[in-house]
Amino acid sequence: MNAAGADSGTPPFRLGVLVSGSGSNLQSIIDKLHNGPANIGIAVVVSDNNKAKGLMRAAEAGIPTAVFSMIDFDDRVEHDRAMAAELKRHEVDLVVLAGYMLLVTPGLLDSFPYKVINLHPALLPAFPGASPIEDTMDYGARITGVTVHFVDEGADTGPIILQEAVEIKYNDTVESLRGRIHEVEHRILPRAIELIASGRVRFDEENPRRVIVDEDRP
Ligand code: GAR
Repeated sequence: MNAAGADSGTPPFRLGVLVSGSGSNLQSIIDKLHNGPANIGIAVVVSDNNKAKGLMRAAEAGIPTAVFSMIDFDDRVEHDRAMAAELKRHEVDLVVLAGYMLLVTPGLLDSFPYKVINLHPALLPAFPGASPIEDTMDYGARITGVTVHFVDEGADTGPIILQEAVEIKYNDTVESLRGRIHEVEHRILPRAIELIASGRVRFDEENPRRVIVDEDRP
């Protein structure tokens, strides 16, 4: 049996998922993709936080885990190099930042060029950063949403793969809005992974900022 649990003869598409906290998005990948018919498997879950609930979710699903705490490293590049080595050891095809709250550096990106994606709870390029839901509400925006994008060296600046809008209601609280954003995230992050794994995501040769998604092709 291969890592995705499929016996199709095709090697599974192997994910490394990075989490810092609750891991509800990791759970959506486990429930919707891991060992499923799309031949996608989570090879390893990595966290910077040894108390992350996401690590427990991974363990419950029988997925290997690893923790790389910043305090054990001199700098972020060294930290990310160690993490990249672990992801390489697990022969990961795509790295998914699913609620991973540290900025990643060339220590990781150089080992996985165009193979790191991030989930962000706002419609980028609006409201990048660490508290986008609060920032969106404080600003008084009426529409926000979810972005899945490739990661480059900037903060939430990489080419966008999928986005979906979420309306902000007058009586929303941060928590009620977060709940509706999570519903969208749990749908579009697994979808983006599936699209990449099946070769339906590519860069426009004339403008590599533009990502072309062949949603309609099976
Ligand atoms: C998600 O809403 C994700 O978009 C956000 O953290 C949350 C993690 O939830 N990520 C960022 O803000 C990255 N800048 P989860 O741990 O329940 O999956």
